[in-house]
Amino acid sequence: MHNVTLIPGDGIGPEITHAAVRFVEAAGVAIEWDEQLAGLAAVEKYGVPLPESTLTSLRRTKVALKGPLTTPVGGGFRSVNVALRQEFDLFANVRPALSFSGTQTPYRDINLVIVRENTEGLYAGVEHFIKAQGKSIAAESIAVVTRAGCERVIDYAFRYAEQNRRQKVTLVHKANILKCTSGLFLEIGRETAQRYTHIQFEERIVDACAMQMVLHPEQFDVLVTTNLFGDILSDLAAGLVGGLGLVAGANIGHDVAIFEPVHGSAPDIAGRGIANPTAMAMAAVMLLDHLGEVQAARQIEQAVRAVIEDGACVTPDLKPGSACTTWQMAEAILAKIGR
Ligand code: NAI
Repeated sequence: MHNVTLIPGDGIGPEITHAAVRFVEAAGVAIEWDEQLAGLAAVEKYGVPLPESTLTSLRRTKVALKGPLTTPVGGGFRSVNVALRQEFDLFANVRPALSFSGTQTPYRDINLVIVRENTEGLYAGVEHFIKAQGKSIAAESIAVVTRAGCERVIDYAFRYAEQNRRQKVTLVHKANILKCTSGLFLEIGRETAQRYTHIQFEERIVDACAMQMVLHPEQFDVLVTTNLFGDILSDLAAGLVGGLGLVAGANIGHDVAIFEPVHGSAPDIAGRGIANPTAMAMAAVMLLDHLGEVQAARQIEQAVRAVIEDGACVTPDLKPGSACTTWQMAEAILAKIGR
């Protein structure tokens, strides 16, 4: 029996999270879920976005399946996702992008993994307004990049490549302009590469890399980059394989790991029952791999892939005009899991 914290999240979160829990049950994995709140749902119930009970649960179980959390733009509370990553030092955000047969994207055979630094850079939370006569006249954000922070995430990317039989690590930077922050990341990448000479290493400037990902995505294998670039490039990678409804990520620390879809709470479709459950299912697949439940992970992944390839019951983000709901697609996946 595994103990896992379950955070349904906001917007479309609860519907897709509960679908994913059913997939795990159907694949026969015994998990005791400790359901906890965070984000807007927690503000409504406890008045705070990240209640102590949620943190206590995570400290106990050390692993979570998490739905998306809403963060208001501008004022209001800080991102709970960023707070969770910093609280548990979840330094590596691992986001695989693998093609699905049956999607409408023109790209085929995409198979790349973005390893994004998850606690530093421009997301370190060091920012402020400069005011004069009651008005903001400027705003400053400071990117914090440390040697230790670079070493652990770049080393993680190389070890990931090694363990997953991947051939190449591409370090993505902007050291031509950001001489210090991106420069340090690049310097440590070059140092680390010397310890992994059996893995090919290359460097790309982020803007050119974005273009290359669109023109020739097949050249990429594992990419490692700083927080903001990783955030942007992983959404780009999601677009290559067919959209945000399909891809998941793992937030990995030394002690705790949190698995989640790459997408957000999708307020534009929340409550309409049309959210694609795939990204959350793939988060559950990554969770099961992490727990060593590899067979169940493959069973769910193959079921999801089969339903998408078949195309008869997929949500409208995958097939415009489709009347298939989240629950209908989830039922089709459950039928393929076969229990
Ligand atoms: P979003 O990812 O929620 O939505 C972007 C677009 O993708 C929307 O058109 C949405 O309908 C669509 N989409 C997303 N997931 C989908 C799914 N499963 N099925 C079908 N369509 C889907 O990004 P947005 O609108 O920028 O952010 C909304 C909120 O989510 C914000 O408060 C943001 O801060 C938060 N967010 C949370 C994340 C997390 O908890 N890890 C990650 C990204 C955003």
